[in-house]
Amino acid sequence: MSVFDLRWIQFSLFLVAVTSYLFKRLRYATASRGLPLPPGPSGKPIIGSLLELAQHETARALARYREPYGDIVMFQGLGNKVLMLNSLQAINDLLDKRSSKYSHRPESVFGGELVGMHESMVFLSYGDEWRAHRRLAHAALNPTQVKQYHTIQEDIATSLAKSLLDTPEDFFSLVRMSAGRTVIAVTYGIPASSAQTEYILTGESFLEIAGKATIPGNYLCDFISPLKYAPSWVPFQQEAAEGRKLMKELLTKPFEHVKRDMDAGVALPSLTRNLLMSPPDDTSDFDRRLMWVAGSMFAAGAETTYATVLSFILAMALNPDKLKLAQAEIDAVIGNDRLPTIQDRGSLPYVEAVIKETMRWQPALPLSVARRSAEDDFYRGYYIPKDTVVIPNVWALAYEPNSKYNPEAFLPERFLDPTQSIVDPGAWAFGFGRRICPGRHMGENSVFILIATLLAVFDISAPTDAEIIPEFTQHLVRLPKPYKCRILPRSNAKVGVVETRAASTVV
Ligand code: HEM
Repeated sequence: MSVFDLRWIQFSLFLVAVTSYLFKRLRYATASRGLPLPPGPSGKPIIGSLLELAQHETARALARYREPYGDIVMFQGLGNKVLMLNSLQAINDLLDKRSSKYSHRPESVFGGELVGMHESMVFLSYGDEWRAHRRLAHAALNPTQVKQYHTIQEDIATSLAKSLLDTPEDFFSLVRMSAGRTVIAVTYGIPASSAQTEYILTGESFLEIAGKATIPGNYLCDFISPLKYAPSWVPFQQEAAEGRKLMKELLTKPFEHVKRDMDAGVALPSLTRNLLMSPPDDTSDFDRRLMWVAGSMFAAGAETTYATVLSFILAMALNPDKLKLAQAEIDAVIGNDRLPTIQDRGSLPYVEAVIKETMRWQPALPLSVARRSAEDDFYRGYYIPKDTVVIPNVWALAYEPNSKYNPEAFLPERFLDPTQSIVDPGAWAFGFGRRICPGRHMGENSVFILIATLLAVFDISAPTDAEIIPEFTQHLVRLPKPYKCRILPRSNAKVGVVETRAASTVV
């Protein structure tokens, strides 16, 4: 039999499976028992309004449905229901106050089953295993524990400044590497080395696939699950196989590295080493669980951090007056003889406002991370069936209309104005309820020290020969697409401060 014949038979069998599945789903979908579902666009026959979820500038486009339909908007099609929450009130009412019903993640066929991410903390179903992962993460990332990582974070910010003095045109990849290095150093204690670079690059390649996998609507097999039986030559199956391979490397290689270093007595302190030395639970599966917890850190912590810092650099290149104000504050508070430290955070209100405004202007996760309802529920008189995918649309919160401060403009002053009650991005950028980001304290410190160091040392401006047109990726994490800008040291004295501090870095 030729390869073509084999493919044809595989394809026919698979079509039969898909068709019978679709009929079943459609029968189920029409049975909403006459209860009123939340309002929303009706869309095309069969596919319904689901394609709206995979369009250009998804978060911005979806926020527009708030006007005709209100705070809670239902999209449906192919037997699936997706509920978009467009206000902090609705998000907190469901994800926080009713967290036992809304703390599951959607069942993802592509990312979860085919790539295998369903065992990572971010995608684990709400239950005992997830709780055990959270306990480990909390033990290592609570506000007291993260203090031990301050020096690592400050060292890496200094190394970034030092590299930018030499090759400022590489700022995009240097910022990405710095965020990756922080997570690898904190999670595994692996300092700058070829092994560290290899683990970061593996993680980056994995995130390319994971990012696409987590947007509802990107892969049809997430809506029509029998598509998962499609033959291996189908492009999405090949992509999933590549994702599986990268994920396995990301999980096992740095973990084995720590164990080898521990056997040799040379392992540096880290989340993984500390937990391996004194495991808080004695299950036989502890190593495997810890491997997943540690692996989840890179997947969840690196991209969100560098997305924020790259959006900040873009904002500074586009808003030179705000850059000057932030630099003036740093010079006044810190002076010219040293670099900022994480301890300085509380004394730099304008810098803090710049960071808040960056997180508001370009939220790293504009649709947060989706949830799934565990049981039938009623909210504001509407029926929310079990297994509805629930998306907190934090873009709608960030771009809430305001008569004094245009939401499209970059204006840190909005957070310093006592006449305004603008919601702090801290209330929504790190998620909600029981699934709130366990790495937020460390993430906030990383973002602060990277940004404060850049402000202290560099002038950032648009290139002289081109205009910057901001563009962003459409994946789960909103990342600026590569852009050019000028990053030059502010003075020779600042160069000297970086060089002196760089001589004492340990990672
Ligand atoms: C600026 C930086 C960061 C932002 C904006 C951010 C944001 C988020 C958001 C929105 C969620 C989803 C929470 C929800 O479902 O309600 C999340 C989950 C998570 N984050 Fe972060 N994060 C950041 C940094 C980090 C760091 C540095 C780490 C680890 C070192 C981390 C680890 C995690 C993990 C493991 C989860 C999954 C939690 C779960 O599903 O139970 N994050 N993060």
